[in-house]
Amino acid sequence: MPFIIAIDGPAASGKGTIARALAAHFGFHHLDTGLLYRATGAKGGDPVAAALGLGPEDLGRDDLRSAAAGQAASRIAAIPEVRAALVDFQHRFAAQEPGAVLDGRDIGTVICPHAQVKLYVTASDDVRAARRAAELGADPAQMLAELRERDRRDTERATAPLRPAGDAVVLDTSTLSIDAAIADAIAAVARVRAEG
Ligand code: CDP
Ligand code: CDP
Repeated sequence: MPFIIAIDGPAASGKGTIARALAAHFGFHHLDTGLLYRATGAKGGDPVAAALGLGPEDLGRDDLRSAAAGQAASRIAAIPEVRAALVDFQHRFAAQEPGAVLDGRDIGTVICPHAQVKLYVTASDDVRAARRAAELGADPAQMLAELRERDRRDTERATAPLRPAGDAVVLDTSTLSIDAAIADAIAAVARVRAEG
């Protein structure tokens, strides 16, 4: 059975950075599931058709990291039929040997509830806004408002809202360097692998 690491958390908490590092460390596949929602939102038109028809050319667009693409993603992500259209792809990805790391909002709660390891990565609003502002060359105050609006939409939606799974290890990266956050995450995974 493949080993699955589920990583969830709010915007710019550092989950993608940790997911990539875990995949490299353990030799697992990595899927940034946020990209599926960003690409679906960026395609425009009927969002369910857009989600069902996602191809490599959609996922490779270079405008997907923008704040506007994040907002569009969180709007279409609240539509249950859009989420349903993306489930198969995520399940097939997670079934790959020897293992997979998926990061998003509902991986530990909905997509892979049987994942061997679940991490919930978080950080204070101010730290997350500062990180994303630095990344995008944007104003931190404007970024803070943008992240809060998106987090509110993601936590309050009826279908697959953002929340930690009951059995998730919570990792607050507010005061952690990237290397320290990665080391903590590797240790959490290694603990479970040693037990199992
Ligand atoms: O995937 P997510 O949106 O949760 O966040 P990310 O893309 O992994 O990280 C957002 C930004 O914060 C990146 O520029 C990271 O390099 C940075 N970061 C950080 O400064 N300290 C950490 N402990 C983790 C990430
Ligand atoms: O990197 P960041 O955390 O800012 O965003 P992302 O992971 O690329 O996700 C963009 C948006 O897609 C989120 O704000 C959610 O609305 C949605 N999303 C989701 O609903 N479920 C997922 N598994 C991943 C993303």
